[in-house]
Amino acid sequence: MPRERELHDKYFKLAKQEGYVARSAYKLLEIQERKQVLRRGNWVLDVGCAPGSWLQVASKIVGDNGRIVGIDLQEVTIPPLANVRTAVADAFATSPATLLAMVNGEPPAPAPGEEHLPPPPHQLFDVVLSDMAPSTTGTPMSDHFRSVDCCRRVMTLAESVLAPGGKLVMKVFEGESYPDLLKDVQLLFREIKGLRPDAVRDLSREIFIMGFGYRMYAGKR
Ligand SMILES: C[S@@+](CC[C@H](N)C(=O)[O-])C[C@H]1O[C@@H](n2cnc3c(N)ncnc32)[C@H](O)[C@@H]1O
Repeated sequence: MPRERELHDKYFKLAKQEGYVARSAYKLLEIQERKQVLRRGNWVLDVGCAPGSWLQVASKIVGDNGRIVGIDLQEVTIPPLANVRTAVADAFATSPATLLAMVNGEPPAPAPGEEHLPPPPHQLFDVVLSDMAPSTTGTPMSDHFRSVDCCRRVMTLAESVLAPGGKLVMKVFEGESYPDLLKDVQLLFREIKGLRPDAVRDLSREIFIMGFGYRMYAGKR
C-alpha cells in the first residue's frame, strides 16, 4: 500500500489547488511541455479517460475548435466541457466506427434527390491518448502483461482512427514485453520516444510511449 506521504505528494496538492480531478494531469502537462503532442483545433481520443484530468488538460489546449472523445469503464467525474464527449465503454468492446461516430456526430440528412450519394467521409483523430491501466493485481509480471494487452488494443484502435501524421501517447507498465511492444509501435510511426514524467510515483513501473507521424497502412496486411 502506498504510504500517506506518497498519496498526498506535491502533485496531489497541486491538482487540488488547480482544479484537476486527478494528479495524472501533471503527467500529460509534462508530456505536452516537452513534446507538444496536442495543438489547438486537434481532434483527440482519450482511452481510459476517467476520472477525467487528461480531458481537462486536453480541453484547454485544443480549444473551442477542437474535439475530444473519451471512453472508460467508469463515469468521468468532471463537469461537462463543451468540446468533450465521453461514454462509459470497454476499449476492448468498442469499435473504431463507434469512436469516429462519436467525434464526427450524426451526418446531416441527405438533401432531396441526393439520397443515392455516399455519406460524407469521416474525419479522423489527430491524437490518440491512453492512460488506460488494468486493475492491478500486486503481481508486477501479471500487471505488465495486462498493461501490454491494453496498449495493443489502443494500437489496433489507433490504426483505424488516427489520421496520417497523427500522434500516439500511451502508458505501459514496464516489463519483459516492453522492447517488443516498442518495436511494434515503431512500425506504425516515423519517430517514437519513451518518457517517464516527474509526476510518475517513484515505485511505479509506468512509462509513456509516444509515436509521432502515424504511417497509415504501415501495420496493415
Ligand atoms: C489511471 S486511470 C486514467 C486517469 C485519467 N487519464 C485521468 O487523467 O483522469 C486508468 C483508467 O483506465 C480505465 N480502464 C481500464 N481498463 C479499461 C478498458 N478495458 N476500457 C476502458 N477503460 C479502461 C480505468 O477504468 C481507469 O479509469
